[in-house]
Parts: sequence; C-alpha cells; structure tokens
Amino acid sequence: MSKLSVISGKSSEKLAKELSKKIKANFVKSEIKVFPDGESKITLIGKISKKKSVVVQSVYPPVDTNLIQIFSLIAKAKENSSEVDVVIPYMGYARQDREFLPGEIVTMKVLGKLFKGAGASKIIVVDIHSLIGLKHFPIKTKNVTAIPDLVNYFKKLSLKNPLVVSPDQGGKERAREFAREFNSDYIALEKIRNRKTGKVKIKTKNLDEVKNRDLVLVDDMISTGGSIIKATQFLKKQKCKRIYVACTHALLMNNAEKKIREAGVTKIISTNTIPGKTSKVDISKTIAKAIM
Ligand code: R5P
Repeated sequence: MSKLSVISGKSSEKLAKELSKKIKANFVKSEIKVFPDGESKITLIGKISKKKSVVVQSVYPPVDTNLIQIFSLIAKAKENSSEVDVVIPYMGYARQDREFLPGEIVTMKVLGKLFKGAGASKIIVVDIHSLIGLKHFPIKTKNVTAIPDLVNYFKKLSLKNPLVVSPDQGGKERAREFAREFNSDYIALEKIRNRKTGKVKIKTKNLDEVKNRDLVLVDDMISTGGSIIKATQFLKKQKCKRIYVACTHALLMNNAEKKIREAGVTKIISTNTIPGKTSKVDISKTIAKAIM
C-alpha cells in the first residue's frame, strides 16, 4: 500500500482521481447519501494510509453541505493518518474575510478554527479570492495559482494583438501575472460594488487602448456574472474586438453563462476547481506539485 492516500469528496471526484495518479497515492472514494432533511451520510471505500492522507473537496454550492462533508472527511482521515493535508480547490466563503459593514461575521475566521478542530494539518487552496482569509487560519496554509495553466490554454488560441484586462483594481496583480506569462500588456478597470445590494458599476471612462484588440478578461471567479457583464458592456462600447474570459473558479450562478455570452463574450474558460461546461483547464499537476 502507498504511504499516501487521497480521500476524495463528491464535489471533486475526477480531480482527486487525477491527483492520486500523479502523486501515486491510494484512492479512497466517498459514497454520499444526502437525506431528505439535508443531512449527509458518508461511507469511505478504500484503505487510508497511516502516514498521510490528502482530502480533496471543493466548496461550491451547496456550500454548507460540501463544508460539513469536508469536515467529516478530515475527521475520519485523522483517525487513521498522522498527517492530513486538505486540498480545497475552490474555497467557498473566501470573500467573507473581513468586516466590511459593522456587525458582519468574518466567516473565514470561524472556518479556520473548524478545519483545525476537525484535524487538518495543512490547507491548500487555488487562487483564493484574497490571502487575508487564510491569515485567520491557525494552521499551515498554501495558495497555489492556476494562472500558468490558464495561460497555456490561451496561448493555443490565435488572439489578435491581445490585451489582458482585470475588471477591477483588486485583480490588478492577477492580470499583471497573467500578462507576464502571456507576454502581453495589461490594464485594470475601476469597479465599485454596492456593499448592501451587491450591484456593480464600472467607473472607468474612455479607454483608447482597447480599440480593435482582442481582450482577455481575467478574474479569480465568476459568481452571478455581474462583474464580467458590466466590464464587457463597457469594453464593447470602447470598440474592442473579441472578449474572452479566463477565470479559475466558474460558479456561474443563475444562468450567468448565458447572460455573459449575451453581453458579448466569445468564450469563457475556467479550471476544474469547479467542474462544468467551461472548465477546460486541468489543475491536478499544479496541485500535485504543491503536495510533493
Ligand atoms: C470580486 O472582487 C471578485 O474578484 C469577482 O470579480 C466577483 O466575486 C465575481 O462575482 P460576480 O460574478 O457575482 O460579479
């Protein structure tokens, strides 16, 4: 038996399988039944290593169900292995990393305590919304980036005089990194979000440099699509050519994919942190490197 086991949660089964092959680990599958009242019952199939287990489970919707399942998987892993690394390809709640409005609970603080209490030795996430969230965790953490994997995909497309664009100033560093790997220029728009309604507006005015160029809008995640749609509408008015979207996590809630295409986006490309129609980029190799 291998000294390593990968314990797969339901939300990341394919990715966990790929990862187990790459790190030559025993694959432990979870069979999950969610009862009508919402409770999860998990049965693990396979042998868990005494030395080290790697639990893999993304926390996308149903977020709270996937969370309780990940805590259960960690606790079971800890009963058997002395070390438990936890890979959370998409970390739900990462945007709740500080008290934006008085009285708001910083859920990332709560989660940090829960991961530790369940038995996690280390948490590995991919392109987390902001590193501030991980600072609340009382255990070791590591954030790995999927940008080089996304860029490899985009290098195969024949884009015309491409420009990388971040829809907001918060994503400027991400756009810079993408552009450096992609060998292009980058810019960041100014976006404001109403903290009460969640609605976004683009504040940037005229922008000559996008004219007649293919654009790659780069973001960490798409949830409702509001940020990408507003940015696309603005960029189209500036007479750009085609708009492609590159993001690590495509949640695409409430028919967001259709709405984004209707706004004028040619293609959305995301990674398999969240499996779906747009998740064309596999990040198992990047995660394997972070574990070994
Ligand atoms: C915000 O700062 C993030 O980087 C994303 O732009 C945002 O969370 C995406 O959410 P939505 O698709 O709902 O606009």
